[in-house]
Amino acid sequence: MAGSGAVPALLAAAWALLAAAFLAVLVLLRRAPAWLTGGGGVSGLFQDLIRYGKTKGGCGQRPAWLRLVQVPKRWFTHFYVVSVLWNGFLLIWLFRAEFLGGSLPSWIQHMHHALGRDSQSEDMDSEHFSALLVLLLLWLHSCRRLAECLWTSVFSNGVIHIVQYCFGLAYYIAVGSTVLCQVPTVRNGKEFSAQICWYHVIGVTMYIWASLHQHRCLVILANLRKSKSGKVVSLNHSVPFGDWFERVSCPHYFAELLIYVSMAVTLGLHNVTWWCVVMYVLFNQALAAVLCHEFYQKKFSSYPKHRKAFIPFVF
Ligand SMILES: NC(=O)c1ccc[n+]([C@@H]2O[C@H](COP(=O)([O-])OP(=O)(O)OC[C@H]3O[C@@H](n4cnc5c(N)ncnc54)[C@H](OP(=O)(O)O)[C@@H]3O)[C@@H](O)[C@H]2O)c1
Repeated sequence: MAGSGAVPALLAAAWALLAAAFLAVLVLLRRAPAWLTGGGGVSGLFQDLIRYGKTKGGCGQRPAWLRLVQVPKRWFTHFYVVSVLWNGFLLIWLFRAEFLGGSLPSWIQHMHHALGRDSQSEDMDSEHFSALLVLLLLWLHSCRRLAECLWTSVFSNGVIHIVQYCFGLAYYIAVGSTVLCQVPTVRNGKEFSAQICWYHVIGVTMYIWASLHQHRCLVILANLRKSKSGKVVSLNHSVPFGDWFERVSCPHYFAELLIYVSMAVTLGLHNVTWWCVVMYVLFNQALAAVLCHEFYQKKFSSYPKHRKAFIPFVF
């Protein structure tokens, strides 16, 4: 049981803690205590740290000092540049270790050790293959998102807090490293063999399906700002229609959640650490979706009443 059951405890705990923090913020927002809505310094800072882009406008005129620590939201692009480079680098190392034999570099083994991976775990080919596949999916996801930021999305002059920006950069390094830590470092001299299991097939199918919908929804958002000929004619926010927008305000966030769930499936459904990552994505994207849903409802009186914020028919 040492193989799949060896939970990288520190990593799982860190992701669970992050998920709990976002859940706590969601609950706080629902209760709206006076110190949070009163418009004072603490409330301003709190709102500034949880909102970004179009939802930042919802907390009124922000103090000048808060505007000093903001960067353009179009810098989201940097997250995916970092992710493509870092996760591509990890992918190359993992491919080399798997296909050329031998073990991972010593610094990765140190990282495993520090983060709690049991390097003496039983060698399971499917575990190696699953982690390799998930790292590949994560890298492809980052490549697609980078391409969308560069060539599909039309950004306005929206901003994000510098803390959110640094968090975003660190996030993509952490998430790739988390996948890598799911690989046993010891191969016991066996040759690598790609054992395709039922959960790989279901996971990859779900990933492709969710990615296609996420892309379509981002194209719909971009088209709101373009003329029929494809020329950018506006930077305003308007009401999106079509695809999963008919059911929820933020289908691209819902698709993001499905993409991370598809990776949990690809890892064989039993990886506790990855489920903690999924929990983090769930609460992080739920918070962003609630704020976005509120924004649409406040701004557009005719906003479709049946639309949920995040999960069709549920939330
Ligand atoms: N895994 C994670 O932790 C994580 C965290 C955050 C985001 N993401 C993913 O990154 C992707 C982008 O997220 P995001 O928060 O930047 O999404 P977003 O705020 O909806 O923005 C996506 C693009 O659409 C534009 N846009 C948004 N609403 C619009 C409207 N009503 N009318 C016209 N244009 C509109 C935005 O422009 P402006 O905002 O510049 O106006 C931006 O160019 C999503 O798929 C999300 O799931 C993942």
